[in-house]
Amino acid sequence: MKADHPQQRPPGFTYVREKQRAVSSNRELHVEAMPLARLATRFGTPLYVYSAAAIRERYRQFDLAFRGCEHTICYSVKANSNLSILQMLARLGAGFDIVSGGELQRVIAAAPKATAKVVFSGVGKLAEEIDQALRAGILLFNVESASELELLAARAAHHRKPAQFAVRVNPHVAAKTHPYISTGLHEHKFGVPWRDATELYRRGAEEPWLKPVGVSVHIGSQITDVAPFREAMERVAALVRSLREAGLDIRYVDAGGGLGISYDHRSASNFSGEVKRYAKAVMQPLKGLGVHLLLEPGRAIIAPAGALLTRVVYRKQNDGKRFIVVDAAMNDLLRPSLYDAYHEIVPVIIQPGRERAEKADIVGPVCESGDFFARDREVGALEEGDLIAVLDAGAYGMSLASNYNTRPRAAEVLVEGKRARLVRRRETVADLLAPERG
Ligand code: LLP
Repeated sequence: MKADHPQQRPPGFTYVREKQRAVSSNRELHVEAMPLARLATRFGTPLYVYSAAAIRERYRQFDLAFRGCEHTICYSVKANSNLSILQMLARLGAGFDIVSGGELQRVIAAAPKATAKVVFSGVGKLAEEIDQALRAGILLFNVESASELELLAARAAHHRKPAQFAVRVNPHVAAKTHPYISTGLHEHKFGVPWRDATELYRRGAEEPWLKPVGVSVHIGSQITDVAPFREAMERVAALVRSLREAGLDIRYVDAGGGLGISYDHRSASNFSGEVKRYAKAVMQPLKGLGVHLLLEPGRAIIAPAGALLTRVVYRKQNDGKRFIVVDAAMNDLLRPSLYDAYHEIVPVIIQPGRERAEKADIVGPVCESGDFFARDREVGALEEGDLIAVLDAGAYGMSLASNYNTRPRAAEVLVEGKRARLVRRRETVADLLAPERG
């Protein structure tokens, strides 16, 4: 599934030559069979646009890569938690990785039967969230501290509901990624240090309503080198063996999420190859253990399936510096501001003859200098009123959006072939003011 042009993300986002006018050689960005320009007219901008085909394709490739091992893909809800997307993934067979009671309620609303395939991670689970999860009968609690284990035991006993748990171990593996999204070292707040894990299992095994059934890790996000995954799984495999020797029935290994994508398509990318390499690194160390593998991908499934569609409002120049001001902002897509993340930005219509390249900052209207999507980026000749698409925005785009500057959050549209469905209406200022009292 390699894009033959760096600006494309098949099968979701591709350029199609305009058909109506034989003379025109404009190329128009489509999501599946739908021109993005038409979506902008119909739903307004800024707009999140997702391709159902792309989501399915990524899910299928991920699933296929792990066919050598019994497994469940527990899609990480935090990456993109739109109900329609959760529903689609549940239909494909996915379970879910959640980190809050709110995310659990989303799963219940979208796919109530999928609660049996939910894993609950997070360092700060509250008693009421644990209660909700016990009532919903989730598959696995990933316990991250001794205090949490104690609370889980008490709540499970109180409800007389058995709770299966894994200890999320901190494998002390360094993954080369942005420091904010690296999690697998001792200085990070996540997981339980290696040396303390066995003792926690021992304590948990003594609790009448707790069942130690798994080992869980998550070393970080946007990791493109598979070596750290292999290293972490080697440690996990050793722990599984030693826990089994101690008499525990460890049946699950939760490998977490974290597989990165290539945001910059100037470097070639081939997802099916990448996910196969990742699967091999994860599965090989577990060979012979006969465990059921749980996987928590978020970004790898959903990032390239979404784009943020936005319109150029103004062009301006401050001394020598050019700015393209668009109608989306850091409140809509925070990644560039927060992580200095790179997203490809492409024109929705490519017009021959307008290819004059210039360097500009693409910025939003929010009152922060950090409100930018790109800096000193080579862009085509963008005019006021033009539409552009920020690619690979399906993960941690809408889910990280805020109302900063009292900006209503964008609408979301899910496209399937020629059909576009509004899966989240645009917020109104009235929505924002409703909970407040003046
Ligand atoms: N499982 C756990 C326990 C996690 O903490 C995460 C992500 C995932 C799974 C999913 O990871 P993924 O496959 O999507 O890499 N906002 C950041 C990413 C934060 C990731 C947090 N945890 C970003 O925009 O890059």
